[in-house]
Amino acid sequence: MINNTSKWLLFFGLSLLFLACDAPESAYHSWSKTGGGSENLKYSSLNQIDTTNYAKLGVAWVYYSEKNDSTKFGPMECNPIVVDGVMYGVSPKLKLFAVNAATGKELWTFNPADSVANKTWHRSSVNMNRGVAYWANGNDKRVIYTVGPIVFCVNAVTGNLVKSFGQEGGINLVNGLGRNPDKLFVAPTSPVMVYKNLFFVSGLVGDETPGHIRAFDIKSGQQKWIFHTIPYPQDKGYETWDDTTAYKHMGSTNSWAGFSLDEKRGILFAPTGNPSNDFYGGDRTGMGLYGNSLLAIDAETGKLKWHFQTVHHDVWDMDLPAPPALVTVTHNGKPIDAVAQTTKTGFLFLLNRETGEPLFPVKEVPVNTATSLENEKLWPTQPMPEIPKPLVRQSFDSNDLNNLIDVKSYAAIKNTFLKYGPSKIFTPPSTKGTIVLPGYDGGAEWGGPAFDPETQLLYVNTNEMSWILEMVENKNKIKPLLTNYDAGKVIYTQNCMNCHGTEMEGGGNYPSLIGAAKIYNTQTFVQLVKNGRRMMPGNNVLTDIEKIALASYVLDIKTVQQQKFAGLLSASLPQQKTTYGLTGYNKFLTPEGYPAISPPWGSLTAIDLKTGAHVWKIPFGEFEAFKAKGIQATGRENYGGPAVTKGGLLFIGASADGKFRIIHKRTGKILREIDLPAPGVATPSIYEANGKQYVVIACGGSKWGGKSSDAYVAFTLQ
Ligand code: HEC
Repeated sequence: MINNTSKWLLFFGLSLLFLACDAPESAYHSWSKTGGGSENLKYSSLNQIDTTNYAKLGVAWVYYSEKNDSTKFGPMECNPIVVDGVMYGVSPKLKLFAVNAATGKELWTFNPADSVANKTWHRSSVNMNRGVAYWANGNDKRVIYTVGPIVFCVNAVTGNLVKSFGQEGGINLVNGLGRNPDKLFVAPTSPVMVYKNLFFVSGLVGDETPGHIRAFDIKSGQQKWIFHTIPYPQDKGYETWDDTTAYKHMGSTNSWAGFSLDEKRGILFAPTGNPSNDFYGGDRTGMGLYGNSLLAIDAETGKLKWHFQTVHHDVWDMDLPAPPALVTVTHNGKPIDAVAQTTKTGFLFLLNRETGEPLFPVKEVPVNTATSLENEKLWPTQPMPEIPKPLVRQSFDSNDLNNLIDVKSYAAIKNTFLKYGPSKIFTPPSTKGTIVLPGYDGGAEWGGPAFDPETQLLYVNTNEMSWILEMVENKNKIKPLLTNYDAGKVIYTQNCMNCHGTEMEGGGNYPSLIGAAKIYNTQTFVQLVKNGRRMMPGNNVLTDIEKIALASYVLDIKTVQQQKFAGLLSASLPQQKTTYGLTGYNKFLTPEGYPAISPPWGSLTAIDLKTGAHVWKIPFGEFEAFKAKGIQATGRENYGGPAVTKGGLLFIGASADGKFRIIHKRTGKILREIDLPAPGVATPSIYEANGKQYVVIACGGSKWGGKSSDAYVAFTLQ
């Protein structure tokens, strides 16, 4: 029997339940997926920490994910997730960990190096990981994460492998792509996306590996569907490739940046990068779908619903760098579900979520197609949104030269500038060389934007770094009586020079190989080239004999360098075709090492998605040296995204200056700066545990060669 009071209580309870379901922010209470949720909004409805009390924020705990040992750590770019009071994340050496989210106390760790799967399959000894995924059904609770080519399924309570998943708890992603797995390289850097009993994956891949998007069963690890990002003859989009056999051999066209998911509609959103190679497309002419596209895929079946290509026939490495934010915006007075896609080019595309139609006009604008590279055929137009305006500068002329330096340094960069001349976005690559802006890393980066459903503001941190791109013909000089050393040189030019430079001098994020002989012998060198390491892709295409020849050249081993090259020329050494590589990844810098472009070098922009207007924009990050001279607003290179809260705050690390910043979300005013143990090259996560709000960020640093750390630092009100 229900008396009046209980009826009232029941009614009250039900209305609360109703309110909870109705109020959209209740959905943003947790951080159970990387990016805060399937929509990748990086928004939290928590408001305990707000614009009145942020000064009381202090360190709650620090978790040293490698026990604070003295090793120099690699970058740590993980955006951790929190489920039922437990935080899951990854250490710089890619150990998976579970800690109490309120105390930072370790519950368990899983070391992939200990697993059978790892020993059997693991080709890339270390790699990058930007997040993990969680799935539960009753007491069956699992964490899915990737290390190199392996997807591991780990029991979320015990940290043990779920042995019934795949083979001994893991699956190897080189299988099931429809090509010879021995030649493939796959190493996802972004988390898989979970939907019902499925998860989706694509990932960082080698130039010879297709970036197809796949669904797997979470229980068994079985492959359920595959979407060919390089279409097969029966697929739509096949006709956009002049080479009718592209689907058999073309690589990349991968979704390395990770996914967003509309759970209600069952649509997976996958941003893709360009087909290989990054800067020369003479062997892949055509529009090249589905490169550089945002794909909307039916999550159940893998069928394409729509696509939007952001760069046609890309030869500038303008991969889509982050999953889109799934937003709801007021457009012409009506709420519309849309997707906001940031790009390395600095454009922001706002598209209808169901149809892919742009909400603001996008024009196909004619671009320069004059190229001297043999067989290259540049696409005559590129899509450019009229609104919002670009987030970064897209052209470089003499007015853009850095003038914060002394006369001598200025003369030096002016000289370099005169050699290459002015340029703008989509300037054709050439052997003479061009300045590339926005740079290869962006524009907008892999951290992705944050979106505030309350105000409909989208926050994007960006970089303005110019690069110098010089193309060089890969002449095929291999003669029958070649020495190991000479063959190695040719092999180097075709496989390694792009990153390590013409003279092995390195540049940008790529190390010099001069003196490598001090660290490697032929055997360890061949192993490294085969396995890859972190951002260095493994090479499974070169034969062992070719790798030994390569070792003789790179390590300058006199005893073997005059030996005749006994290797059979493999398919990777094309005999007839002219191809091009670049002379190296070279940032255009001043003699002191500052960007040769004038500031701002980093920015943070708030865009009102209702109107497309930039509401505020601030230089983001700083250099002590300039600050000391009274020049504050230079901005600085930054990677990793922001997180925004109902409490009126935006939290962001990302900057090379190693600061964690608390910013007023409506005005852009920097409220507070906190020094991190090493730069937080990652996106913060925001969650609640035992009634308290926390903000946590991975502080891996090391990206710029400076400080590195294994620390996750959590903040709360003191
Ligand atoms: C896509 C860019 C890229 C390509 C292509 C590439 N590398 Fe690397 N390489 C890297 C990066 C990045 C590192 C640093 C890896 C790390 O952080 O551990 C590296 C590291 C190395 C190292 C170790 C250097 C050291 O100081 O320990 C060697 C040796 C090397 N590469 C050789 C090669 C050779 C030989 C090739 C051609 C078969 C090649 N690389 C192709 C990016 C590349």
